[in-house]
Amino acid sequence: MKKKVLVTEQIPESVQNYLREQVEIKTWDSSEQMPREQLLAEIDQYHGLITAKDKIDDELLNRAKNLEVVSNVAVGYDNFDVEALKRSQVIATHTPYVLDETVADLIFGLILSSARRITELDQYVKQGKWKKGIDSSLFGRNVHHKKLGIIGMGRIGEKVARRAKLGFEMEVTYYNRSKKEQIEKDLGIGYQEMEELLKESDFILVMTPLTKETHHLINAKEFKKMKDTCFFINASRGAVVNEKEMIQALEDKEIAGAGLDVFEQEPVDPDNPLLKMNNVVTLPHIGSATAETREDMKFFAAKNMLQALNHEKPDAVIKELQ
Ligand code: DGY
Repeated sequence: MKKKVLVTEQIPESVQNYLREQVEIKTWDSSEQMPREQLLAEIDQYHGLITAKDKIDDELLNRAKNLEVVSNVAVGYDNFDVEALKRSQVIATHTPYVLDETVADLIFGLILSSARRITELDQYVKQGKWKKGIDSSLFGRNVHHKKLGIIGMGRIGEKVARRAKLGFEMEVTYYNRSKKEQIEKDLGIGYQEMEELLKESDFILVMTPLTKETHHLINAKEFKKMKDTCFFINASRGAVVNEKEMIQALEDKEIAGAGLDVFEQEPVDPDNPLLKMNNVVTLPHIGSATAETREDMKFFAAKNMLQALNHEKPDAVIKELQ
């Protein structure tokens, strides 16, 4: 008898067919998240779960009597309680590598949009406000040859550094738990302690995974160290930054602006003050959201799933369970 897999993310027909060759699948076809109560009530029927947002914790794992593997369609897995997974023996996988270039492209979109005021001035044109030549009140800031500081030099950070160095001739430094000497040599970038990086950068990108250690890594103290001309970019997870304190820093003009793909609460509250700020570019968590990359991620998640169910080592088990 075929094993059973629940898929709570929308996946294309091609990936469904790939899975169906080996397992029986049940898909959740709404763009709304599957209600938690329903997931908890049904999970004991399944050997595998493909998800991206469901919280995988003791409450779920204790009911998941047949579950062998949970496969996240994302590189980040802050929806996983890693300690609960370790206790449960359920294999947990994610989808690194395939989205690195796509997320790095989007980050450059945020850098350019915030510094050159692209989204703000797009609205200016569309709202019929362009009546004569623009004056200096609408000027942006240069990106090329400026200093980019990257906090968290993982695979995506490296792709951003490459674009910044080779494409925009920026000076790039990074702060990371461990030094990446090969990348420093290959790209001509430098390591800096957090303090110096915060003080000297024209653009600061946070790209660390969200863990207990990185929760609110950037708060009022860090914003106060930044230049008042600095643009702050976050495309990792909202909770790496203390959002209330970032809003305060923007209101107090401690930084020049921000480019944000992620928020502490997603979807973002329509009353969030960030949505009223012209110098803040806001996106609905679309780092990896291109047709090609999302399909690649879904295939990767399906492959991880089938490998685990076939008792092979999946290509991308989360590092804490390796
Ligand atoms: C990821 O894969 O973690 C991206 O942020 C999309 O969720």
